[in-house]
Formats: sequence, structure tokens, C-alpha cells
Amino acid sequence: MEISKRRGIIYPSFEIYGGLSGFYDYGPIGSRIKQNIENLIREFYLIDEGCMEVECPVLSPEDVWIASGHVENFTDKLTECTKCGEPYRADHLVEERLQRSCDHMGISELNDKINELGIKCPKCGGKLDGVYDYNLMFKTYVGPGKYKTSVYLRPETAQTTYLSFKRLWEIGRKKLPLGALQIGRSFRNEISPRQGMVRLREFNQAEIQFFVDPDKKESPRFDEVKGIKTKIIDKNDKTFEMTVGEAVENNIIGIQMIAYLLGKSLLLFKRMGINSDLLKLRQHKDNERAFYSVDTWDVEYDSPSLGRIELVGVSDRTDYDLRQHMNLSGENMHVEVNGRKFIPHVIEVAYGIDRPFYCVIESCFRGDNGRVYFSFPPNIAPYRVAVFPLVSKDNLPMKSIEIFNMLRKRRILSIYDESGSIGRRYARADEIGIPFCITVDYDTLKDDTVTIRYRDTKEQKRIQIKDIPSNIQY
Ligand code: GAP
Repeated sequence: MEISKRRGIIYPSFEIYGGLSGFYDYGPIGSRIKQNIENLIREFYLIDEGCMEVECPVLSPEDVWIASGHVENFTDKLTECTKCGEPYRADHLVEERLQRSCDHMGISELNDKINELGIKCPKCGGKLDGVYDYNLMFKTYVGPGKYKTSVYLRPETAQTTYLSFKRLWEIGRKKLPLGALQIGRSFRNEISPRQGMVRLREFNQAEIQFFVDPDKKESPRFDEVKGIKTKIIDKNDKTFEMTVGEAVENNIIGIQMIAYLLGKSLLLFKRMGINSDLLKLRQHKDNERAFYSVDTWDVEYDSPSLGRIELVGVSDRTDYDLRQHMNLSGENMHVEVNGRKFIPHVIEVAYGIDRPFYCVIESCFRGDNGRVYFSFPPNIAPYRVAVFPLVSKDNLPMKSIEIFNMLRKRRILSIYDESGSIGRRYARADEIGIPFCITVDYDTLKDDTVTIRYRDTKEQKRIQIKDIPSNIQY
């Protein structure tokens, strides 16, 4: 986090007013990386899977969240210190003590555990009050005076995608499966966001809703992922080391489409630069699953610094959401396919952006022999190339700027830097993970060649200026 702050990757928001827990700014370097992560997801789902993209408002009327069940059920288990008032997520306090996941525990079990284990307020040692359900949505109003309407900031993008299902059905020429991607902000008034970027109150999601025939939850391209080997933990805490294909054959992952999307997500996280040895698949326990789902699997990352982090959840939401919105709004959500009428089921892939971002930063951080750098893949790095004149005299800057402008014209995001020693400039480029450096020297003026330096290996090669673009592809 210290390095992130110094290099303009991320830093706490509202710092000059003392900050506010659960909010972060993406700095000039971080926002480039974040957009690259989003674009990679976009590419995977728009190009490979043929999804459509939508963008909806972050505020929505109360009825939407009554229908979806969030007003009643979107809660966490809260306990407060009777002495200092500090709030805590009860399941997290018990989890810290037992060193195992407690997301599934109900109110009475959590109260019993807190008493049994003698858990006190970590801040002041005071007695903790009874556990209760606390709704995570932010409520506000739209419009003035008596015309004002209650609205909520969305806690997930998914619901807003469901609302226009009938339009998407028409636009997508009435075919299933129909995939709709939405990338945008979501908001949750988290109880105690103490884990930096992992638990934010305003965060980013990329959620894909696949509307499918309830009888067709297979995937035509399952072959592309079936050979991926990974660690898998089922809802009974049984652990397996096997391929995604074997997990389906052995009915550990019951729905082929879920297995396919989990496999795709493993590939996607690897493409982002996340250490795939630290990834695993974990099924939600029956009493841990969200109220709208009949089966949920997460891809989790075992962070050396923060422990278990959920990066994406893949769920079978059945026809729950469309049916709920049909019942409250009156809009008929049935479709007709080959003479059969039904409400489509939804298989959802729900990515956070901020958590994968954190894992990319952590996985790509290298500190070898005093050399500190980020080994971001070129498509994730904040800039593709840094261009340097060896010295800032004798027309070398002019030639370097010519190259920099040539890259600019080709829409390749690069930086130009002529200040300090060449060693210092390489180090500065490494520190923000720029994969390629181009150095212009006296030979460049004679034969139009430059030195290209590769960040991870520090290998240097002489190439023609005209060959720079083909040398910096990924
Ligand atoms: N639409 C389903 C849904 O929202 P979720 O598991 O609650 O499911 C999906 O959230 C993803 O959003 C998570 O896997 C995580 O990456 C991200 N996420 C959820 N809450 C978050 C928070 N408070 N801060 C940062 N990311 C969060």
C-alpha cells in the first residue's frame, strides 16, 4: 500500500479531510491498470461469448429492491461493543478466532460462539452486544419536498440489467442463451471495512447475466476449459485437486455452464497477471449462499498479505429475479422458444474489479536484489513503452520525440522521459511496471536503430525503429 500510494496507483480518498473508511482513489497509474482489467473482461465476454453491454443508473427506486429481496434480505450480522460502540461483523470476529470460514452461521450460532469463546471488543476489551441483521444498502431520496421518492444506491449491477430483460430479448433477436455484461459502480454500507481495497463501500463490478433455457445449462465450448487443473473445495469442505472436466464428470460441479465460466475466470485472472497457484474454486455452503441462488461457486485467491479473497462468484439464480420483478412490476417476463413458454433462468458471473486489481498488484510485485518492479502483463501495464534519449543533447531528444509521436499516432500509450541518468529512468519505468523501454543513442542518428529493453529480464536488443510496434505486441 505504501508503494501504491507513492507511485500513484491507489490511495485513500478524502485524505486531506482525514479519509473515510471503505473509499479509495485510483491514481494516474492505478486508473490505467483498472481500465485495462475492465477491458480484458469486456474482451472475454463481448468478443468470445457474444454478450451485449449495458449501462444503467446507480440509483434505483425502492420497488426494485423490494422485488429483488434486498430490502428484506441483504444483511450482514452486526455486533457492537457495549462500551466503546465499535461495530463488528460478528462472523468475521468468530472466523478470526476459529481460523475457518463462518459466513454461514446464523444469529443464534454467532451469539453462542461469541459467548463460548469469550470474544470481547478487539479495540477496548468491552462486552459485545447481541448480534442482529443490518441492511447494507445506502438509502436516499430523489426529488424535492412531498414529491420525493425513496431510492437506493445499487448493491450489485445485476438487478438493473434484469429490469430491461424484455428489451434485450427483442434486441438480441429472441435467442437464448442471451448474455448481458454491465461494468459499473456498486455500493454497500459495509460494517467494518478494515481490509483496504478488499472491502469497499463504493466499488466496481463487472457482472454478466446469462439468460438461459432452464433445461439447457450446458456449454458448447466446455472443451476449452476442461483440461484446467485446480484446487476445488465443495460445500462440505471436501478438497480435490483435479481438472474442471473431472469436476463435472464426478458431479462435484453439477452445472456444466458454471464449470465453464469458472474455468474461463481462471484463464482471465491468469491473463491479468494474478498468480494462478494461489487460485482455487470454492462452493458456497447451503446456509451461506445468497437468498437468490441455488448454487454458487467462487474463484478465491489466497493472498499472502490478506488471506482468502473472493474475486468472482458464479451463481445459478434460476428464474428468481425475473419472476420477482414480473410479480411486482406486472411486466410479463415469459419468452417463447419452439412453442415452449417459460421464464429464462439466469447464470450470473459477478466479478469485482477492485479485488482482482489488488491481487494483480500483489502478484506482480517483485523485489529482487534491491530492484523493485511490477511484472504486469503488457495489456495490463499502465503504459506500454517508455522512450528515452541516452543523453539530453545532440539531437537525441528530438529523435526520441519523433519515436514517441510515432507511437502516439498508432494509439500506443507511452511516456517520454529525459530527466536523470539512464539507470534511474529504467528504474522509474520498472517501478510502475512499464514492460518495454526504448533508448535512442548516437547510433540511432546514423542507422535508425534503437535499444529495446525488456523489464523482467533486463535483456537489451538492437532493433530498427520501424520494428518497434511489432516488438511491443503481447
Ligand atoms: N450480483 C452478485 C453479487 O453482487 P457478490 O458475491 O456479493 O455477488 C460479487 O459480489 C463480487 O463483487 C465479489 O466477488 C467481489 O469481487 C466484489 N465485491 C463485493 N463486495 C465488495 C466490497 N465491499 N468491496 C469490494 N468488492 C466487493
